[in-house]
Amino acid sequence: MKNNTSQKESFLNGEGDSWFNRNSLLSEIDYRYWIENDPLLPLVLELPCENNSNTKVFEVGMGQGMRLTELKNKRNWDVSGIDPSKKAVDHVRSNQIKSEIGTAEKLPIKDNSIDILIYGFCLYLCDVNDLFLISNEANRVLKKYSWIAIIDFWSSYPFSNVYFHEPTLKSYKMDRTTMFTWHPNYKIYNHKLISHNENKYTDNMQDWVSVSIIRKNG
Ligand SMILES: C[S@@+](CC[C@H](N)C(=O)[O-])C[C@H]1O[C@@H](n2cnc3c(N)ncnc32)[C@H](O)[C@@H]1O
Repeated sequence: MKNNTSQKESFLNGEGDSWFNRNSLLSEIDYRYWIENDPLLPLVLELPCENNSNTKVFEVGMGQGMRLTELKNKRNWDVSGIDPSKKAVDHVRSNQIKSEIGTAEKLPIKDNSIDILIYGFCLYLCDVNDLFLISNEANRVLKKYSWIAIIDFWSSYPFSNVYFHEPTLKSYKMDRTTMFTWHPNYKIYNHKLISHNENKYTDNMQDWVSVSIIRKNG
């Protein structure tokens, strides 16, 4: 792979499908285990939004779409998502969930239309040069009063290391809330640091993952 290839091109050109292939063989038992242990789901499920299709939920980098499926089933929300992986999109569509191929800096959604925007472990894979575009897209598609839900690797200072599955790519780690909360319209509603391996606190900072809910109120 050439060094000047962006990460999103790599994911659009096969790395997304590779992720899907590695993770797509979940049995029903694994699926239930994943759902029951996803640290983000309980925080999203408790958000004060109507239990019907007036509530629009969009996940960026939805992978197999398990989180979206659960939110649709539990709260009857109108859910959809994007992923650079065609295999992921085909799979999610086969579960009757709207989905398109795409990446975080260009969302196929109308302005002011989303109540809950989810980034589930995808921002760490996004190009650093896209971060302003990504924040701007979120701001564009979110309704005036709405929510952002993020789970991702956390660090108090930005750094990158080699992406475990492909050494030419990087995993970028930082405090993702800072992409939004510098702006007066965005406030942290819920934020906690947990272990990447277990859904509970750890004193091992190398292992920290953050789960964050941000309110847009303007
Ligand atoms: C670690 S998986 C997480 C999948 C799912 N959200 C979850 O929480 O299980 C990361 C996903 O992000 C997707 N992805 C990678 N780069 C992306 C980008 N620039 N924009 C949107 N999604 C991206 C990958 O294809 C992959 O499906």
